[in-house]
Amino acid sequence: MAMPDLTAQKLSQLGITSPEAVAGCFAQVQRAFDDQAARHCLDSGDWRAFVIKWTGRKSGVLSQITDNWLKPASPELKRVVGQELNKLKTHVESVLAERETAIKAAAEQSAAARDKIDLSLPGIERAIGTRHLIRQTFDELQRIFLSIGFSVVEGPEIETPYYNFEALNIPEHHPARDNMDTFYIEGTRAPYLLRTHTSPMQIRTMEKQPPPVRIIVPGKVYRRDNPDSTHGYMFHQIEGLAVDTDITFCDFKGTVEYFVREFLGPKVKTRLRPSFFPFTEPSAEVDATCHVCGGTGCRVCKQSGWIELFGAGMVNPAVYGFVNYDPERLSGFAFGMGVDRLAMMKYGVPEVPLLFQNDVRFLRQFP
Ligand code: PHE
Repeated sequence: MAMPDLTAQKLSQLGITSPEAVAGCFAQVQRAFDDQAARHCLDSGDWRAFVIKWTGRKSGVLSQITDNWLKPASPELKRVVGQELNKLKTHVESVLAERETAIKAAAEQSAAARDKIDLSLPGIERAIGTRHLIRQTFDELQRIFLSIGFSVVEGPEIETPYYNFEALNIPEHHPARDNMDTFYIEGTRAPYLLRTHTSPMQIRTMEKQPPPVRIIVPGKVYRRDNPDSTHGYMFHQIEGLAVDTDITFCDFKGTVEYFVREFLGPKVKTRLRPSFFPFTEPSAEVDATCHVCGGTGCRVCKQSGWIELFGAGMVNPAVYGFVNYDPERLSGFAFGMGVDRLAMMKYGVPEVPLLFQNDVRFLRQFP
């Protein structure tokens, strides 16, 4: 007899009267269960229905047996029906639990297989980029000066006119301010401006520390220039300052020559040309033999054989007065170089805008 029919009827209706016959009925039910359990093993949707069919409270097979076989059983058979039912229940429950564990494990396994990282796949390559040419040049300049005993200090890009001009011996209305006309910052009580050079750090450093001083100052500076192929409104400088009790013009010249040879190569010659800065006396422009023609004259050096590198000079004793240094006892030299200019010269970059357009075709040339 098929399952629902068998358990839908009472034992008396089935003609079961002996304990052996009861056991036979239960054996038949258990075989049917085992049979179905084997077929329903892996599809979990189907599995749910199967579980409910057997253990569902209302019309599950086990409930049916309780209602139809156990409850109405004759007193002689009640005990054996109860025992057989308990055995069947235990069997059903343990098989279901076992199968459920197997189903879950299989599902987990296939999920894990899906998530597994395939180490043989080609990786995602992320370009790490390079240091910008200006940064590279800064590093190179710093390396040279650090190797001869200078240390690096940095200062504010927003300055007061006092540090940018007055303390550097550039009084108001002095013509030396003309080429440094700059950006003033509005809306502040005291006047502020974007520094036009890194020289204010000469003053700030000497104010803070007693001599000797040997510093370089890398940083950004700003001037109200109209951008074109040789100008921007911002560029980079490295300032240098050395002050001690016995620094001479020879030290100045030797340091400058050493620097130029380190930076541009041993064949390059230097010369000092008289110049003027209010905070140095005497002042000089440092020139180097043209890196393109080697000094014979070409278009780049305008046939002169020389290229102007940077401004420099012996510290004007008037400056010491602003920082309480003794001008009788101390002497020193200072220089201020345009880093962009030096980079362009050394690496043959023809135009300033190339440095700031962030075009990777340009940047990649300086790995
Ligand atoms: N500060 C000057 C400039 O920007 C350069 C300079 C620095 C000259 C130090 C002499 C000494 O033009």
